[in-house]
Amino acid sequence: MYYKLPTELYCERNCITSHADDICAHGKTAYIITGKHSSKANGSLNDVISVLENGHISYKVFDGICENPSIENIMEAVKEAPKKTDFVIGIGGGSPLDASKAVSLMLANPDKNEDLLYQKCDAAYLPVVTVPTTCGTGSEITPYSILTIHRLCTKASLPHKIYPSLALIDPMYLDSAPDTVLKNTAIDALGHLIESYINTNATNISKMFCNHALSLWKAIPYILKNNIRNYEAYELLMMISAYAGMAISHTGTSLPHKMSYSLTYEQKIPHGKAVGTFLSAYMRHADIYACNHILSLCGFSSVHMLADTINELCGHIEVPYSLAEKAVKDIAGDSIKSRNCPYPVNEEILWDIYKESVAII
Ligand SMILES: [Fe+2]
Repeated sequence: MYYKLPTELYCERNCITSHADDICAHGKTAYIITGKHSSKANGSLNDVISVLENGHISYKVFDGICENPSIENIMEAVKEAPKKTDFVIGIGGGSPLDASKAVSLMLANPDKNEDLLYQKCDAAYLPVVTVPTTCGTGSEITPYSILTIHRLCTKASLPHKIYPSLALIDPMYLDSAPDTVLKNTAIDALGHLIESYINTNATNISKMFCNHALSLWKAIPYILKNNIRNYEAYELLMMISAYAGMAISHTGTSLPHKMSYSLTYEQKIPHGKAVGTFLSAYMRHADIYACNHILSLCGFSSVHMLADTINELCGHIEVPYSLAEKAVKDIAGDSIKSRNCPYPVNEEILWDIYKESVAII
């Protein structure tokens, strides 16, 4: 048994203002990493800036993080950083939060080039404060940073474990998120829970997070299908995402995430939707008791009912045969990509999962 989760986490209304001192205690110069629009629309960027200005902390904003940020995008942010950055603040969905961790790693190692990102070594990183504004990534609390590698036409997690020091969750930031973002990110969180539960690294502690969050997830289809938008719904979505982050911090994700990356890279399918499409088939191949346990916790009578709900929320996916064939060969030929899956992974099983999950055209 191993347990490590060093991030201090708060989830409450007006979270940024209430924890101004905790943010300002991180140093004298902050580098804010975010995307172009959502952190401005939901007020999170302004809230953070107000806290920094009131605390006399100097700061610079980099708002050029793209969806599924690439290594090049990270290095662009690194180049723009203040001369002496003490800490990094990531604001937004998974992309800016993952980017903030990669930037913190590069800034703590100014003599290294971008090769450091994927080098397996012990490397320092600057403290990171995370402010999530979507409800799926869990990146506010996980040590993971997933970047797009154009050279390989896919996404991959950095080998470094970069734990944020402070995660500040204000559920009201979800209020301006489009319905599709809520749906896709809520399915991403469900994917984290299912893949963490059915995982070679699962422990009693990781399962404890999964059990609790899966039972909370029972309410999510009703909330999303009926467009219920209030503080209680947002808090539930955010907390499930954080619990799921706690679970995958211990186990990592598994096959559906690995299978999703080429769909996101090649077809620009949103991360949660791409993950969600593979979940029911992933479960069907797993231990029957684990599968039934998950279904009963989140209120589904069968894997088909789960698949129908995911399709209803996120929509069906069509994949060209050539892309499916390439992904199957790639994952089957790389044992690292399937190492967290508790059953044998070969081309036959991967094709089964593919055919059951998407329409191959
Ligand atoms: Fe994910």
